[in-house]
Amino acid sequence: MASLRNLSIFLTLALILATQVALSTSIGVNYGRNGDNLPSPQNVISLYKKCGIKLLRLFEPNPDVLEALKGSGIEVSLGTRNDDVKVIASSVSAANQWVNTNIAPYSQVNFTWIVLGNEIIPGAEGVFATQAMQNMKEALISIGLTNTKVTTSFFLAGLASSYPPSAGAFTDEVAEVMKDVTAFLLQNDAPLMANVYPYFPYASNPAEIKLDYALFQSKVAPVTDGSLKYDNLFDAMVDAVYSALEKIDAGNVSLVIGETGWPTAGNGAITNTENAKAYNSNLIKHVESGVGTPKRPGQNIDVFIFAMFNENLKAAGVEQNWGLFYPNTTAVYPLLQC
Ligand SMILES: *[C@@H]1O[C@H](CO)[C@@H](O)[C@H](O)[C@H]1NC(C)=O
Ligand SMILES: *[C@@H]1O[C@H](CO)[C@@H](O)[C@H](O)[C@H]1NC(C)=O
Ligand SMILES: *[C@@H]1O[C@H](CO)[C@@H](O)[C@H](O)[C@H]1NC(C)=O
Repeated sequence: MASLRNLSIFLTLALILATQVALSTSIGVNYGRNGDNLPSPQNVISLYKKCGIKLLRLFEPNPDVLEALKGSGIEVSLGTRNDDVKVIASSVSAANQWVNTNIAPYSQVNFTWIVLGNEIIPGAEGVFATQAMQNMKEALISIGLTNTKVTTSFFLAGLASSYPPSAGAFTDEVAEVMKDVTAFLLQNDAPLMANVYPYFPYASNPAEIKLDYALFQSKVAPVTDGSLKYDNLFDAMVDAVYSALEKIDAGNVSLVIGETGWPTAGNGAITNTENAKAYNSNLIKHVESGVGTPKRPGQNIDVFIFAMFNENLKAAGVEQNWGLFYPNTTAVYPLLQC
């Protein structure tokens, strides 16, 4: 009896583990901090390590978080506040000051990316992005951080057209900004950070877009674009950005996906743990397989899932429910091996 019970416990465990995924170095998680009930930074970083999450994105500097990251080996994407982009663009000494406060004291933290703002293109701060990146790059070099990639953050509202993917194009205003931004990125071999959420087009048009297509589980490729076939919406959205870049002669700019994910509550039958688990687990498999997208086959891409925790200080509804974990560190659904 005892051994039968052990066997069944073993099989149950094996089944749970088989449905959970181990992470490569291409998958990160956003550490959003808009909650008044989140664990201490020390406990959050411990949770990242326990769950094998090797990349972390932090939207703005926080001394306690940066302290907790020391010696963790986690690769960090650190953002500046949107308000600071214009300030940092104003002079190299403003950039030096930011770097001296937020980077220099943390020599044991791996700053892989510094991101000027979040979703500032399209937006009023976008015109300051290139000068701010330039000043930031100089400030980082002056403290010896020559390998840290400096970039900025784009979101798909900056596309005038995105369907089919080859029709992807920036709005005129964004194209002007992106010409300077991409010149900087190409010169410094840095990727553009883009936030890509298949959830939003699906949620606004569930009658026309198939759920399976949004969740990477379509058996067919519903979208054919010239010689390219799309069986998931994520690839179609990413390729629309590549098309837009090509149209301003910046097709060699690579992308890092700053945010993507699926909420577990707040929008009826579309938001639940099954859909969120399907989206994020299939996303991880897709990225880790290294297949790339139809336009960029075989090209690896780093992706940050949004987000580590449900955040109770965000707008009520969907916005509060993107977390992989509740604030008490219980998983909202089984995804990672922790
Ligand atoms: C983090 O940075 C240290 C010191 O620069 C380096 O030795 C180590 O390889 C880095 N770790 C990762 C995961 O990149
Ligand atoms: C893009 O990169 C390839 C390979 O390095 C190079 O041959 C090509 O000239 C580049 N294209 C542009 C527009 O810079
Ligand atoms: C953690 O919080 C969630 C949501 O409030 C709750 O359902 C769960 O029981 C809690 N887990 C523990 C161990 O307290």
